[in-house]
Amino acid sequence: MTNTWIGQPLPRVDGRAKVTGAARYAAEFNQPGQVHAVIVSSTVGLGRIESIDTEAVSHLPGVLAIISHLNAPRLAYREHRGFIDPVIGERLHVLQDDRVHFFGQPVAVVVAETLDQAERAASGVRISYDAQTPAVEMDAGAANAITPDGPSLDTSRGDPELALAAAPARLDVTYEIERQNHNPMEPHGTIAVWTDDRLTLWSKSQFVVNEAAEIEAVFGLPAGSVQVISPFLGGAFGSSLRTWPHVTLAALAARVVGRPVKLVLTRRQMFYTTGYRPHEIQRIALGAQSDGRLQALIHEGIGETSRYEQFVESLTTVSSYLYSCPNVRTRYRLAPLDESTPTYMRAPGEASGVFALECAIDELAVELGLDPIELRLRNEPTIDEGGRIPFSSRSLRECYARGAARFGWDRRDPRPGSMTDGRLLIGWGMASATYPAARAAASARARLVADGTAHVETAASDMGPGTYTSMTQVAAEALGLAPDEVHFELGRSDFPTCPPHGGSWTMASVGSAVHAACVAVRELADSIEARQGMSSLNGATRRDVYRELVTRRGGLPIEAEASSAPGPERQQYSMHAFGAVFVEVAVDPELGTIRVRRALGAYAAGRIVNPRLARSQCTGGMVGGIGMALMERTVLDSRDGRVVNASLADYLVPVNLDIETLEVEVVEEDDPYVNPLGVKGIGEIALVGMAPAIANAVYHATGRRVRRLPIRIESLLAA
Ligand code: MOS
Repeated sequence: MTNTWIGQPLPRVDGRAKVTGAARYAAEFNQPGQVHAVIVSSTVGLGRIESIDTEAVSHLPGVLAIISHLNAPRLAYREHRGFIDPVIGERLHVLQDDRVHFFGQPVAVVVAETLDQAERAASGVRISYDAQTPAVEMDAGAANAITPDGPSLDTSRGDPELALAAAPARLDVTYEIERQNHNPMEPHGTIAVWTDDRLTLWSKSQFVVNEAAEIEAVFGLPAGSVQVISPFLGGAFGSSLRTWPHVTLAALAARVVGRPVKLVLTRRQMFYTTGYRPHEIQRIALGAQSDGRLQALIHEGIGETSRYEQFVESLTTVSSYLYSCPNVRTRYRLAPLDESTPTYMRAPGEASGVFALECAIDELAVELGLDPIELRLRNEPTIDEGGRIPFSSRSLRECYARGAARFGWDRRDPRPGSMTDGRLLIGWGMASATYPAARAAASARARLVADGTAHVETAASDMGPGTYTSMTQVAAEALGLAPDEVHFELGRSDFPTCPPHGGSWTMASVGSAVHAACVAVRELADSIEARQGMSSLNGATRRDVYRELVTRRGGLPIEAEASSAPGPERQQYSMHAFGAVFVEVAVDPELGTIRVRRALGAYAAGRIVNPRLARSQCTGGMVGGIGMALMERTVLDSRDGRVVNASLADYLVPVNLDIETLEVEVVEEDDPYVNPLGVKGIGEIALVGMAPAIANAVYHATGRRVRRLPIRIESLLAA
């Protein structure tokens, strides 16, 4: 196999379609005869619906249906445990009874000829409730925390309590991260069309095969009845992994009125029914010898969840493998509250867990008077001590070294408040980053067609990382074609099946499948060529060969489908990407404002398929980390559970003016175990270390240790 296209900084193959508006997103697939649905959301946070009065609006022009639990068809809600949906509890059964579980829950849906008509009618539906005060306060929830059902997520080795008590240096601190919402640019939306008992959904989704299976289960339909199409996503960050209630409502509305229905959530509604990063509280206790070597590590975390499902994420996992330590305990609990269910968001689990651990390591470095990199190097493990297996590869030392050199870390004066620029306080902070290099079974199909080009398809998604481009490169390389001789398609549930487009799984899982399918079709072509003794084609391009082969078959394409799955190597090696993040902040000591002047991430994530896309992924993740550290928080009103800042005016995200210099240093790795392509995925790790690096930089600038995210002006001005 030639090695031509993998590793090249190709521009996005879909770049032109995106900037010219030719790329179509879910809500743009308008259908003939289409009508519009608008959700009526609960205005109480807990209770029962007493009555629904539609008199004032049901006869307004254009109104076709007002659907609520009073008249909605009963839905099957067959069991369906896709591995992205919480496996514990039971999902919301929408419009099936009078109960309200959380503020913003859909309680009715209005269908009308135009969007304006539907919105007007929806605003006039009068609902009275028997309302109670919902429990939404994290402190109260944490006091009544429960152990998640299912296999224990807690881990333990040695005797950490004893070791902590005996350690010459120790700290025991609590960190908190407020709730965050994904807020992708593109709102969630679905267009639903029934043809007899078959349903087509153009729907924003990171997991089309799961969305089809979930809607089949909800409506009690046989497998294969639902087709989900989602060729482009305008960002998602995990919020389109699950199939949320609005998809069911679009399909339900379309069935009731017998017309194609479009349903798009408002920005406000997205804060309630498309998941969020849970509010989490974490305790870290560290005990070390005076030379810095860790003796005890206790990591306890509590995350909020709903009462009808239990959402769990890998909050404390990182503490079992990031550092060498003989005595470690991790514990993970849930705080069930009267809320909708959280979900995976931007490096879920690790982003939050690493924040706590990496701030605590920085605090320990200060206590010991050690450079934070030196402290980490003294605790660098030789194996994964939690899993008691070697790492497939781990280039964290290299990340520290390369990152520190490029950042100029040796010019840092460690004394807090010692570095200034005029009246501004300058802080330099760093943190480690890590994210699992996971992989799941995936499949793909490759077809050589009459003009000698290839069509490659798989049910993956592309929410922004550049899946279209990277898969085209993998396919081109395996087929011996140029990228413009490969036509790659994704985002249809009837394509060969794929795992969710998330968790940095796509390149490892789908890339391996695309590679396998292309190798298979090339071998098929080679065997046909050999059988036919086509020596006349010696010296021809691969495209010429494929064209000739297909022509001799009367134009019948040569096709192969292949699957690729992880094997026993997953039990033999611990597989993670690693990185080191360096940040410079400038703090105004009078105003408390914090600016990230520059950030540098050094990442080792296996082989890089496309350095240009990888850099874009990394800077995107770093921007998300700045949001997490300094801006993003979803604020609930404790009286009724409403989100008081459910808009992009009030929920702050970084904009261009908030971002200055972002640098990315890629540390190349040759990992022969992780998967056939040797890739680890780079979508999430770039967010992971940012928040602790920023918090550590704020400490360095000000001497103030802020242990609650986001760090706000108030955090620094408070006495
Ligand atoms: Mo990402 S939170 O796994 O979509």
